[in-house]
Amino acid sequence: MKKQLIFLVIATLVVACSRTYDIPPTVESPEWTYKTIEAYPQLTAGDPDSGFYYLTAGAYLGTGLPYDLLKKQIERNEERFVKNSGLASEYGFAVFETEQGVKVMNGTCFSCHAGKVNGEIVLGLGNALNDNQANLKIPATLMNWRVRSKYRKDTATIVSFDDFGKYFKHMAPYIETDNPGVSPAARIAEACMRFRDPVDLTYTPEPQYDVREYNLASDIPALWHMQKKNALYYTAVGRGDFTKLLFQASVLGIRDSTAARRAQEKFVHIAAWIQSLEPPEYPETIDSQLAEQGAAIFEEKCEKCHGTYGETETYPNKVIALEKIGTDPLYASYAAETQIVDWYNKSWFAVSEPQSWFEPEQGYIAPPLDGIWATAPYLHNGSVPTIYEVLNSNARPKKWKRAKQSEAEDYDWQKVGWKYEKKNAGGVSMTYDTTLPGYGNQGHTFGDQLTDEQRWAVIEYLKTL
Ligand code: HEC
Ligand code: HEC
Repeated sequence: MKKQLIFLVIATLVVACSRTYDIPPTVESPEWTYKTIEAYPQLTAGDPDSGFYYLTAGAYLGTGLPYDLLKKQIERNEERFVKNSGLASEYGFAVFETEQGVKVMNGTCFSCHAGKVNGEIVLGLGNALNDNQANLKIPATLMNWRVRSKYRKDTATIVSFDDFGKYFKHMAPYIETDNPGVSPAARIAEACMRFRDPVDLTYTPEPQYDVREYNLASDIPALWHMQKKNALYYTAVGRGDFTKLLFQASVLGIRDSTAARRAQEKFVHIAAWIQSLEPPEYPETIDSQLAEQGAAIFEEKCEKCHGTYGETETYPNKVIALEKIGTDPLYASYAAETQIVDWYNKSWFAVSEPQSWFEPEQGYIAPPLDGIWATAPYLHNGSVPTIYEVLNSNARPKKWKRAKQSEAEDYDWQKVGWKYEKKNAGGVSMTYDTTLPGYGNQGHTFGDQLTDEQRWAVIEYLKTL
């Protein structure tokens, strides 16, 4: 037993040390310290209910896995299927009919944008229970083989699977993350788009641009923030029309720009549904006197970046330069360098109306803090488990493991965020290691000058947002 363990440790070390990363160079901090993103006129004619229906049952993904293949497994026990697939809610996948009239299944926005806190499913909350550390190259190959050999003669089923099968295979090598709970969504877009012609979005057998061999990942932001935002994503890279930007998340299965146009028109409703979302209310009691003291500190120290709450809601849409914010710079460096930016800016997304485009900034946007109590872990890379530690950088754990993977008991109502165990040994798969490039927990030291007493007051106030 002991020998096996030693062997395992050595093997893990060898693998860890032999890994080479193709990390983008850190970009220089820009000359500005703050940058305000101006509003862009948005389409507002959507209907939230239609949007929600379309999100959970619509065909915006175009293609998918033949439902036939998984039918028995799902119908026998849907709850178990949901749990085993790492989804936080039964909305995480949709079964819909393709243009060819074939019933298929595909993941929805809720596979990432529905989360669980305090034992409850919250739509719009990022799903931080997902684990993307496994490499999907072999499963993707097997899935393609299974479907293509089983349905070889049935053209309609193969046509209804084809795009999903191809893009999934291209995406698989690029979505393995080095830490638990973080999402490789940006890499999914990068890996899929490069096999599309920018003008008509059709499949191209040769890639249009190169992708780095480093799987950078991020936390998943709460969707209700979109109401206040003038640009999407942590680096404010998503500009212009939101329906086009949101729809981009479904290119894993869309055939061409004609199908894209049909689906994108429905995204007016999806955008309306997202605009109608409210953050969940803090479920425990709040000490209102303490919260009031915290409000005064917030006004002095935090408001200029994060905005005001309550009766007069304001949000400045400010990007803070890397040097000033000091959080891990790699995600922003990566966004500045990836070739998807050029591809996107000459593509159907940018050229046709309504226009959207990519414009990464050398910094991170100061996010709205509505419902912040529910959205642990914190910072763009999910490297900090509680708000207390966001406000006290010396207390942040270097390696930490969520105490329990789900359900109610694992929330820390005092520090607000996840209960965790400190782990110092490497190789534990559910341990978040902040020493890896891109996953650092440094920076945002604005709470360091506060006394603990003041911190507890600010935290009490943040519970009210
Ligand atoms: C594989 C997981 C995944 C899926 C599926 C997914 N998203 Fe996201 N989404 C993310 C991540 C991660 C981010 C943050 C990326 C960033 O900011 O760089 C994000 C960002 C966003 C944002 C921007 C939020 C903000 O505050 O800037 C919106 C809005 C959004 N997604 C909507 C959607 C919609 C609508 C769908 C379905 C069509 C979808 N997403 C599908 C993971 C996902
Ligand atoms: C100079 C602007 C600035 C100031 C001042 C500032 N913040 Fe931030 N804050 C940011 C930025 C930018 C981020 C995102 C950083 C990242 O994700 O890398 C952030 C992130 C956060 C987060 C994590 C959000 C999330 O969803 O993960 C919390 C909580 C927070 N700030 C609270 C505060 C509080 C409380 C104060 C006052 C004591 C404060 N901030 C002061 C700019 C600022």
